Amino acid sequence: MQGLKSKPSMNTPAHPLIIELTALLGDARVIVDAEALEKYGSDETEDLFFAADMAVLPSTTQEVSEIMRLATLHKVPVTPRGAGTGLSGGALPVRGGIVLSLEKMNKILELDTGNLAAVVQPGVVTERFQNEVEALGLFYPPDPASRGSCMLGGNLAECSGGPRAVKYGVTKDYVLGIEAVLPSGEIIRHGGKLLKNVTGYNLTQLLIGSEGTLAVITEITFRLIPLPKRRQTLLVLFDALDPAAQTVSAIFKAGLVPSACEFMERDAILASERQLGIKLPCGDVEALLLIEVDGDREDVLEEQRDRICEVAMEQGARDVILADTTEKQNEIWRIRRATGEAVKRLSIYKEEDTVVPRFSLPQLVRGVKEVAARYGLVTICYGHAGDGNLHVNILKMDMDDARWNDTLPLAIEEIFKITVGLGGTLSGEHGIGYSQKRYMPIAFKAHELALMKRIKSAFDPDGILNPEKIFP
Ligand code: LAC
Ligand code: ZN
Repeated sequence: MQGLKSKPSMNTPAHPLIIELTALLGDARVIVDAEALEKYGSDETEDLFFAADMAVLPSTTQEVSEIMRLATLHKVPVTPRGAGTGLSGGALPVRGGIVLSLEKMNKILELDTGNLAAVVQPGVVTERFQNEVEALGLFYPPDPASRGSCMLGGNLAECSGGPRAVKYGVTKDYVLGIEAVLPSGEIIRHGGKLLKNVTGYNLTQLLIGSEGTLAVITEITFRLIPLPKRRQTLLVLFDALDPAAQTVSAIFKAGLVPSACEFMERDAILASERQLGIKLPCGDVEALLLIEVDGDREDVLEEQRDRICEVAMEQGARDVILADTTEKQNEIWRIRRATGEAVKRLSIYKEEDTVVPRFSLPQLVRGVKEVAARYGLVTICYGHAGDGNLHVNILKMDMDDARWNDTLPLAIEEIFKITVGLGGTLSGEHGIGYSQKRYMPIAFKAHELALMKRIKSAFDPDGILNPEKIFP
């Protein structure tokens, strides 16, 4: 299979594929101009960039189907794309070809308050969907940090999580059905507003987290839940990393289920504060847990809040601060949501998305710090501690290029081996995409990877859909 890159005359208006796509979509929705194409060559993953030959902007499933049929005919790679907020390079057009942007398929088709369900197109921005749902007293919990700009189709492709996953689950837990287009152009539908369904293989769940490598998702049916009316937000402060990590499992062991349980180490807090020019009300701490409880009854929330404080103090917390107004709560979350961006601005870096069983989090944090110290690497850790999901950011800072290039893969490999040794795996919510694929053999045996590749081939026999992803 060859991409457009090997056909030099491809990115010219005279090429048959461009003529056919322009006939289908019109000039304005087929982008070939190099400058206009630039934004389709990168996502939020490090500083990676790959030039696409064109971007196409369909607005209907039929158009997506026709694009895929033509791409298959011409054996040209297609990289589906939402908002490009991914952190593992899933939307990068590594082999050039077509970027298929779903940005124009941005309609909320149905909000069904009787069935507590919604039907949407993939290009709807997550936060917009949440706001519309909440206006009806309903709730769509998954809340990736980028929810102000990321799109629901991308959330499905990567099975996005976020802070609320600890109580409410991740994207897959809210998807009841999909419509998708196969590389051949055939349209498939699976599931619907059904809370039970064991009719054949679960294609809906197979596509979720498949990182745009199997089919292009064109419609999503979501399950919704009632919106909790109240929340309480706490900052639990620690003078060391270990007790912070240990407090997490102690909270769950005590039978408490917070709606967020986030961990930030000192440098993550400082980076976010600096980025936004505001300070958390916590002074100088080594680590903190940002804990939230939600529900409908104030007395129940107060009791849970008090018990969380007790557990934290028993585990060695220095102090607990209550954010007692909505403004303070929102400010704390603004700081937390800015962390990824803030860390990225500090240095060239590599972000890992390790996940372990919650109880093993302290061992993971210790392991990461030990490996980093041994290689002389700076790390900044933060993430969804209640899920055992730790974002490990390794920063180049002033390390020379040769040493960085030599040591980074070795350190990452060791960190992943520790993670897998603790019963964990490589990614909790960012996906494998392009940037983590070389590490897949740490998580899977050869025959397991071979099975996954056979699934890929069943959907995409010509290997044109989002090539160079997931598999090493
Ligand atoms: C976060 C993103 C990076 O948790 O997943 O901020
Ligand atoms: Zn995260």
